Amino acid sequence: MMGRLARVALSLVTFNYAYLFLDQSSLHVDPPRKRIAIVGAGTAGVSVLKVLLADLPEDATQGWDVVLYEQRRDVGGIWLPDPNPPHPPELPETPLSDRLMTNTPHPTMTIPHFPFRPATALFPHHPHIQQYHTDIINNWNLSSHLRLNHEVLETRWNGDPESGRWIVKVKDLLRTEYLESEFDHLIIANGHNHYPSVPEIEGKDLWARSAANRSAWHSVFYRNPQPFTGKNVLVVGGGASSRDIAQQIVEFANSTYTSLKEQMKSPAPPFPDIPGTVMKPRIRRFTRDAIIFEDNTTLTHIDTVIFGTGYEQRIPFLTEGGHLGLLHDCPRGRQEHLTTNLRYVRPVYEHVLSLDASYPVGALYFIGLPIFVANAISDYAQALFTAHTIADPSLLLSRDEFFDELLSEEARLRADGMDPGYVGHRIIGRGGATGYQDRLVGYLQARGLAGQPNIPRGKNFTEPWRTFGEYQGEYLRRGWTRVEERGEEYVKEWLEGVETEQDWVVMMEKLVDWEKRQEEEEGTYDPNAYSGPGF
Ligand SMILES: Cc1cc2nc3c(=O)[nH]c(=O)nc-3n(C[C@H](O)[C@H](O)[C@H](O)COP(=O)(O)OP(=O)(O)OC[C@H]3O[C@@H](n4cnc5c(N)ncnc54)[C@H](O)[C@@H]3O)c2cc1C
Ligand SMILES: *[C@@H]1O[C@H](CO)[C@@H](O)[C@H](O)[C@H]1NC(C)=O
Ligand SMILES: *[C@@H]1O[C@H](CO)[C@@H](O)[C@H](O)[C@H]1NC(C)=O
Ligand SMILES: *[C@@H]1O[C@H](CO)[C@@H](O)[C@H](O)[C@H]1NC(C)=O
Ligand SMILES: *[C@@H]1O[C@H](CO)[C@@H](O)[C@H](O)[C@H]1NC(C)=O
Ligand SMILES: *[C@@H]1O[C@H](CO)[C@@H](O)[C@H](O)[C@H]1NC(C)=O
Repeated sequence: MMGRLARVALSLVTFNYAYLFLDQSSLHVDPPRKRIAIVGAGTAGVSVLKVLLADLPEDATQGWDVVLYEQRRDVGGIWLPDPNPPHPPELPETPLSDRLMTNTPHPTMTIPHFPFRPATALFPHHPHIQQYHTDIINNWNLSSHLRLNHEVLETRWNGDPESGRWIVKVKDLLRTEYLESEFDHLIIANGHNHYPSVPEIEGKDLWARSAANRSAWHSVFYRNPQPFTGKNVLVVGGGASSRDIAQQIVEFANSTYTSLKEQMKSPAPPFPDIPGTVMKPRIRRFTRDAIIFEDNTTLTHIDTVIFGTGYEQRIPFLTEGGHLGLLHDCPRGRQEHLTTNLRYVRPVYEHVLSLDASYPVGALYFIGLPIFVANAISDYAQALFTAHTIADPSLLLSRDEFFDELLSEEARLRADGMDPGYVGHRIIGRGGATGYQDRLVGYLQARGLAGQPNIPRGKNFTEPWRTFGEYQGEYLRRGWTRVEERGEEYVKEWLEGVETEQDWVVMMEKLVDWEKRQEEEEGTYDPNAYSGPGF
């Protein structure tokens, strides 16, 4: 402990000394005009790094010092595999499972005008997504801003509501050194697929320990289906993870069940029929020998229960610094300080800008909080809002004005019968993900920034093809599966010469038409079938 404190003190001294030295030398090197820290190098963090350094006018960013801290060995966030996943309950670095493919077509997972590499399968295996993050870093020469293997431990505002700086405590994991630096702006992009949320259900532990080899655990630990050969498995939850896991396990298990509660009003796709799995309602409780469901049916032969029940919204380094309280009940009305009920971080304007009264509006941003969005492009809209309001703080409204917007948004959800504390950062209504992105960039357009890089003039931010790619997601997926089933040569034909963003759009349009024709010919085409976003 003494060693750690001494290191921190020493690094502070070194830091200040460097400034003294520069100030007194004849080099005339000014200290940075603005220091900005980003936490996390997943899609969200990489997107905001790119916008800060490549999309703002050069004179606006002159003398900025932008640093991105990432605790892992490389960029990519959840798409970077964990080579040595630990045993539960210790959490793996990522929920990534061995076979994970995207459930969305990759052209819809991009930042503007920077497509995936040519010849990438439309629904690629996970290494391609990690590669895409590296490609962004290399294409815009961003690597000098990365501090890999650096874990942010604590972020604390040193100042008052009008001015001050963030003190960011970081652990250099390779050298086991502790560092402390000061920043004017903090941008949190730490992801929200890390801390498992497992429902408390009566009798669960008793059930699990009442027979050898029984277990109940969260999907974050799932890696591959082989260990379930011959087993009897119940997968709980209706989201993408449960769908994926049930689909993989059904090929190996003796029996597979999925337990779903009633779906929240949401744009998420309905749970598909997975041939070979049996649907059950929500679990009522466990006994020593059985799992009892809401309809009073029971199962007595289950070996493993996998909870694909989502994640908790935590930001430990912000809580550690005293700036994010953990609350069971989400407050209503005005509140001074940031809290999370593990679903909803409040008060945050448009899921991007903290309205905590301890520091000025504009001191703290979040990228990547939204759920039910196409990630990269939503992150990008948030990043444009963040970068431009950092460059020109006069674009920001007052805390009170932003708070009014937040309250009216929450009132809208309540009027629709939803509880904002439960909905959290799910983007529901008002044009969904597209409307959300367009509002964020519309905020900048309305303040004279149309025409700046990636802020269009006279039209909305989201290009119509992105909405097409999301809403035709099911046809694209079925179509692409059909293409792959016909063999490698056929895949090559479809990907031949597809390079630019526009090429990918044309290819997706062709594929949707082709798939619909195939289904018409087979007599399976259903114009009323769900074909919304795959997220
Ligand atoms: C299993 C799974 C499958 C998915 N499939 C799809 C899909 O097919 N299509 C799709 O569009 N989306 C999918 N998603 C959603 C996915 O979360 C997004 O695609 C996106 O990658 C999230 O990026 P992010 O940057 O917000 O978070 P993350 O990828 O989680 O990145 C956050 C980063 O922050 C770092 N970090 C956190 N805390 C600290 C700290 N204290 N100090 C330093 N670094 C820190 C983490 O190490 C991590 O690298 C999937 C998610 C999961 C979990
Ligand atoms: C990145 O760096 C290389 C080599 O220094 C240079 O040729 C290239 O123009 C740079 N690219 C950008 C986008 O700055
Ligand atoms: C438990 O699992 C182990 C390894 O998978 C197997 O060898 C053993 O037979 C199992 N025991 C029971 C009671 O199913
Ligand atoms: C296989 O599953 C069936 C239900 O589908 C169950 O009745 C049977 O007991 C299971 N067999 C084994 C060996 O687990
Ligand atoms: C299930 O059983 C409980 C208690 O035995 C009973 O109150 C309830 O009505 C039953 N529900 C159904 C759907 O049968
Ligand atoms: C932008 O989108 C909004 C809502 O979806 C729509 O009403 C508006 O007409 C669009 N604006 C332009 C210029 O296309």
